Amino acid sequence: MSKKLLLKDAHIEGIRYFDVYRKQGGYDAVEKALKMTPDAITEEVKISGLRGRGGAGFPTGMKWSFLAKPEGVARYLVVNADESEPGTFKDRYLMEFLPHLLIEGMIISSFALGANTAYIYIRGEYSWIPDILEEAIEEAKKAGFLGKNILGTGYDLEIYVQLGAGAYICGEETALLESLEGKRGNPRLKPPFPAVKGLWECPTVVNNVETIAAVVPIINISGAEYAKIGVGRSTGTKLISACGNINKPGVYEIDMTISVEEFIYSDEYCGGIPNGKKLKACIPGGSSVPIVPANLLLKTINGEPRIMNYESLADGGFATGTMMGSGGFIVLDEDQSVVKHTLTLSHFYMHESCGQCTPCREGTGWMWRILTKIANGTGTMADIDLLWDVQRKIEGNTICPLGDAAAWPVAAAIRHFRDEFEWYIDNPESQTRNYGLANYA
Ligand code: NAI
Ligand code: SF4
Repeated sequence: MSKKLLLKDAHIEGIRYFDVYRKQGGYDAVEKALKMTPDAITEEVKISGLRGRGGAGFPTGMKWSFLAKPEGVARYLVVNADESEPGTFKDRYLMEFLPHLLIEGMIISSFALGANTAYIYIRGEYSWIPDILEEAIEEAKKAGFLGKNILGTGYDLEIYVQLGAGAYICGEETALLESLEGKRGNPRLKPPFPAVKGLWECPTVVNNVETIAAVVPIINISGAEYAKIGVGRSTGTKLISACGNINKPGVYEIDMTISVEEFIYSDEYCGGIPNGKKLKACIPGGSSVPIVPANLLLKTINGEPRIMNYESLADGGFATGTMMGSGGFIVLDEDQSVVKHTLTLSHFYMHESCGQCTPCREGTGWMWRILTKIANGTGTMADIDLLWDVQRKIEGNTICPLGDAAAWPVAAAIRHFRDEFEWYIDNPESQTRNYGLANYA
């Protein structure tokens, strides 16, 4: 059984409220951290090996240590709660059921970064969550953990919650900052990274909800103890939101040593595939990461069990492996169509492209049109090559990762399931002619 750090108290009735959370040891980590120096907290986070849980897996302590500290200039912590990656719903769970864990993590992190103002930028579709967070913020304030002179230490912190307006691109950190500043959410060119020039041109750390929540157990048990959980550079625990063709969809906390097979088939996690169907493929890290066929998913190229962690899932690079990403684990059984699935995703990325870069703006539309043609049974073999060509021209040629995120699923689908694309072309009479256009035009 995986060790629980973030969700250990999630089953306790009323854990959403301050008094119940506090009774379970909540805010002990704040008391401990405020007696430490900011640098000592950052050091603990570095030692823990914690990596960004939003998808990129960038080392958190390193990101914090990149924060510029010019005299007299404000610094900010911004929590990225714009969780919009298809298949990803772990941060929603944390904010809805354990809002104080996030707030506690934010107090410790803000203190370590020297920030007196912090924001939670939350996706527009999570419209009921700001009230939960605001209530928790008020409770924490009343108890002396937020506001002026926290616990008599002289440290001040205000937390504000900002609801987005429903654009996926605002989860990209610089688009998020633009949106928070009241502008259209267009990604900025990096560098400069937000750690140097972020919100209102001030040094800013942008971290995912789960990343900030993980700071609490790190302070409670120490960075060194946290680093002992997991394996290699995949330390600590990770939340996985599992969905698709599984018996038990939900949010699971795993230590990153269990095999993919165990995760899919054991009753502790996904509980297997309904009706005894066979596993066809999986997208293990949210829709932006490459799809993997069952044979490559369960075993590495060396024939060893594939493990639910950063290194093992990416084993072999994009040619064979995939990525841990945001932990949005989408399972497809033998009845699912990879072509139609890719078509749905391509519509999503076309719709969500901000339109700044030509390869992304035009390429996402072209990929959708070609995929629609193939799924409708009016495609040709040359369309598969054209689709491949279009995705290659997007990858690496755009301002932000949305372009790559649109290209990779298409590339992986063709690479691993080319025969299925060819089947659609060879069997035009089997296709529903209006698929795609009817749904999306
Ligand atoms: P990234 O790799 O460009 O950056 C990671 C983080 O490290 C950023 O905060 C960046 O500012 C920081 N960083 C990198 N180099 C730095 C340097 N030299 N100095 C200072 N800071 C530096 O990736 P990004 O754009 O943050 O995230 C992309 C990932 O997000 C994708 O892999 C995807 O899995 C995930 N994603 C997650 C979503 C969700 O809903 N959770 C939605 C969409 C994508
Ligand atoms: Fe906008 Fe796409 Fe360019 Fe990102 S890659 S900046 S979403 S056009």
